[in-house]
Amino acid sequence: MFSRYKKNEPAKPALADTQRAGRPAKNAKPAPAPIPEAEAAPVEKRILRKPMPTTAAQANAADKERKRKERLSEIKLELHRELLDNLNLSALEHASESELRAEISAIAGEVLQEKAIVLNREERTALNQDLYDEVTGLGPLEALLKDETVSDILVNGPQQIFVERNGKLQLSDITFKDEKHLLRIIDKIVSAVGRRVDESNPYVDARLQDGSRFNAMVPPIAVDGSLVSIRKFKKDKLGIDDLVQFGAFTEEMAAYLQAAVATRLNVIVSGGTGSGKTTTLNALSSFIDNAERILTIEDTAELQLQQTHVGRMESRPPNVEGKGEVSPRDCLKNALRMRPDRIIVGETRGEEVIDMLQAMNTGHDGSMTTIHANSARDGVSRLENMIAMAGIEMPIKAVRSQIASAVNLIVQASRLQDGSRRMTSITEITGMEGDVISMQEVFRFQRTGITPDNKIVGHFTATGVRSHYSERFRMWGYDLPPSIYEPTVG
Ligand SMILES: Nc1ncnc2c1ncn2[C@@H]1O[C@H](COP(=O)(O)OP(=O)(O)OP(=O)(O)O)[C@@H](O)[C@H]1O
Ligand SMILES: [Mg+2]
Repeated sequence: MFSRYKKNEPAKPALADTQRAGRPAKNAKPAPAPIPEAEAAPVEKRILRKPMPTTAAQANAADKERKRKERLSEIKLELHRELLDNLNLSALEHASESELRAEISAIAGEVLQEKAIVLNREERTALNQDLYDEVTGLGPLEALLKDETVSDILVNGPQQIFVERNGKLQLSDITFKDEKHLLRIIDKIVSAVGRRVDESNPYVDARLQDGSRFNAMVPPIAVDGSLVSIRKFKKDKLGIDDLVQFGAFTEEMAAYLQAAVATRLNVIVSGGTGSGKTTTLNALSSFIDNAERILTIEDTAELQLQQTHVGRMESRPPNVEGKGEVSPRDCLKNALRMRPDRIIVGETRGEEVIDMLQAMNTGHDGSMTTIHANSARDGVSRLENMIAMAGIEMPIKAVRSQIASAVNLIVQASRLQDGSRRMTSITEITGMEGDVISMQEVFRFQRTGITPDNKIVGHFTATGVRSHYSERFRMWGYDLPPSIYEPTVG
C-alpha cells in the first residue's frame, strides 16, 4: 500500500540486536557503597543538616509510572529508528497531511505486527503523532513547542531534556534517539533560517518561525552531546496587570513605573538570565504614549509593543564566511538617523553601550534597555566595564558622569530560588557625589523567610525616600500620592 514511500532496500537492524545492545540507562550512577556502621556520622551532626532533596535519579527509580513510560518510549525509539530507515522522506514531503498520517499509521501497524508488539489505542495514537512530528516537524521537540504550559526547553545531549513550567525546571521524559537524531533536528531548525551549524561553526543563535528564541551548541564544544536552549515565544506577553497579579511587583510600584516611563525617564532593566528582563521591558513599554515613534533593536525580536508607530530591527551575526554582520551598534547608529522619539534596545552587552548612553543623553530620553547584572550598583559597574571594553579611553569620573546623566532608573528583576520572578528593587540614579554615582532605592522586595516547602516569604515595601523625580512627575500630570513612598510594615 505504501510502496511509494518505502525505500527500495530497507536496511532493517534486527530488533533483538538493538535490544541486546541496550540503551545506556538514563542518569545511571553506581549504587552507593553501604556505610559500615562503625563509620556512620554521629547522630547530633546529622540532625543539624537539612535532609538533601532526593536526586533526580533516585526519584525516577521510585516512580513506577515513569518506568512504564520509559519502557513505552524505548519501544517507540526502536520503531522510530526502523521507520525512519525505511521511509522515503523526500517522497513524503509532497504528500498531503491526511495521506501522510494514513501512510505512517499503515507503516507503523505493519512494523508493530512484524515485531509482535501490542499497543493499546491511546498508545498507537501517540506513536503515530510522534512519527508524524518526526517526519514533518521537529521530532521530540514538537510536542514541547506545542505545549502552552512549557516556557523554556533545555536540551543537555540526546537523553536529557529539561522544561520550565510555572517557573520550575523539571526533567521531562522525552528524549532523542541518539546524538545523530538530535543533530538532524538542530540542522532542520537552523537550515530553515538560512544558517549552518557543524564542527567548524559549532554554535548558532536563531529565531524559530513561531518567534521562539533558539540557541544550539554542538560537539566537540558541547562535551556530552549537543546543548539546545529554546525560550518559547509567548503570544500574549505578560502585561503590567498580569505581573501585579502574579506578585512580581505591587500596584504602587506600577503607578510609579507608569509615571517614570510616561515622563520619559531613561530606564534600565537589570537582571540575571531568565529573570524576566524582556518581559518587564515589554510591560513597561505599554506606558509609552501611542503618538510616539519607537524604534526597537534586538538580537532576536521578542518585544511585542502595542503602539502603532513602531519600527523593529533585528541585528545579524556574521555568516559562515564571516561576512554580512549587522551589529546592534550598527542598528543603533542607524536608528539615530531615523527620527525616533524613543529607542528600546533589547539587551546592551557590548560596544553599543556608547551609542545607547549618548542617545539617552541627547534628546532620545525615555529610552530603555536591559543589562545582565545582579543589582543596581552591579549594573552601573557593568556599564563602566562595557565602556572600557569598547576601547573608549576616558577617565573613570567622566565615564561615571556620562552614566549618571544618561540613566535615571534601574529596575532589578530577579528569579528567586523558588522559581518566582519579582522586581526586587527600583533604584534611582540621582547624580554624582565626587567620583561616585549616587543612587537611592525607592522600592524593594523585603525577604523575611522561607516556608518548609521552599517558597520565599516576603513583601514589597517603599524605602521611605521620596522620588528624586516627584516634582517632574507632578509637572507632567503624574501626581503620585506621598503615601506610596511610605514603608509597608510586613
Ligand atoms: N513575573 C513573572 N511571572 C511569571 N513568569 C514570568 C514573569 N516574568 C517573566 N516570566 C516568564 O519567564 C520567562 C523568562 O522571561 P524573560 O524572557 O523576560 O527573561 P529574560 O531575563 O529576558 O531572559 P534572558 O536572560 O534569557 O533574555 C518567560 O517565559 C516569561 O514569560
Ligand atoms: Mg531577554
